Amino acid sequence: MPVSNGREFLSIPGPTTVPDEVLQAMHRPAIEIYGGELMAITNGCLDSLRKVFKTSGDTYIYAANGHGAWEASVSNLFSKGDKVLVLESGRFAIGWGESATRLGIEVEVLAGRPGRAVDVEAVEARLREDSAGEFKAVLVVQIDTATSVYNDIPAIRRAIDAAGHGCLLMVDTIASLGIVDFKMDEWGVDVAVGGSQKGLMTPPGLSFNAVGTKAKAVHQTAGLRTSYWDWTARDGDVHYMKYAGTPPVHLLYALHQSFNMLKKEGLDNVFLRHSLLAEAVRRAVSVWAQANVVSFIIDQPEERADSVTTVRLNGDYDAARLIEYCHRKCGVVLGVGIGEYSDKAFRIAHMGHINAPMILGTLSVVEISLAALNIPHGKGGVQAAIDWLSERVTA
Ligand SMILES: Cc1ncc(COP(=O)(O)O)c(C=O)c1O
Repeated sequence: MPVSNGREFLSIPGPTTVPDEVLQAMHRPAIEIYGGELMAITNGCLDSLRKVFKTSGDTYIYAANGHGAWEASVSNLFSKGDKVLVLESGRFAIGWGESATRLGIEVEVLAGRPGRAVDVEAVEARLREDSAGEFKAVLVVQIDTATSVYNDIPAIRRAIDAAGHGCLLMVDTIASLGIVDFKMDEWGVDVAVGGSQKGLMTPPGLSFNAVGTKAKAVHQTAGLRTSYWDWTARDGDVHYMKYAGTPPVHLLYALHQSFNMLKKEGLDNVFLRHSLLAEAVRRAVSVWAQANVVSFIIDQPEERADSVTTVRLNGDYDAARLIEYCHRKCGVVLGVGIGEYSDKAFRIAHMGHINAPMILGTLSVVEISLAALNIPHGKGGVQAAIDWLSERVTA
């Protein structure tokens, strides 16, 4: 007998739960797109993007998913045959590199270390070898959603500077924006890429570029620019051109509402909420791991992401079965393992519109599934999460 009736709990690392206020903001008739209220919505969203990316640079909104924003960043900066260095730490920087390859860019991958964040010393060493300055950019993710690793972006900037290399630093924040802090200008990031459907609590379909002055100068000579992705074509005051065509009106209202909610909560509080809930998840996983079947993918606690936790099942235990049990029997949808972790891992998302009961509910269902499927695990993971929150969330 399943106990799954009632509202389904979405615990996948994007798209994430869309708040009712955001859904309601979209429930409106179509409106004029050449003048009127929409101009203010666009300007408000572009400005709010500057605030979450923490940049005084230019921001751009695409009617596209994250793959679109990847392609936008590459086509606006490079010409065929240009070379970039991709820093592997899971699946997604590799994907960005693959999209660059398809555009005619020469991509070198700096291999990652299993279970670890990007090795900043290896970045510095590789860039030192490039004395001719062939690499035009370094591409890296702040959080990789497959491995759930957190990369130290300021440390990567320092490695580039220590090597005396002039390449651009390009960062994918699709699984981190609005979840953990990102200081584009202070950290010396030249281009950042984001998406609507994770920390920004908006339905999928919008993605972003944020662009600093150095990147804007490089952009002037890029040979891969297209009429849709082009940054320059979107600059200026003509509203229609901000989207290179018809604006994604209803998604813009949704995004605007989501920024209102982030502003009301306060970005620092948003980051703190995520870090407290993420640690609650990690406390539970640490207890389950005591029987040596369940384990983290990421070895070092400080390299574990605050947006998602990838949990490995060692031996012959089948993560797909656990995911299926949680969904069909208990109404919780966990993230599947990606790439080399498919069937070996499940992912617990803790990003976006989440609170304590959602996280504790999800953890409880995982604990039920571990017991019901006879997967050896330490007892009391949920209790450890409760203990953590009751210590930190004071009266
Ligand atoms: C870190 C990261 N980058 C890029 C993407 C690709 O985004 P999209 O699926 O919206 O194209 C994802 C999707 O999960 C992601 O997690």
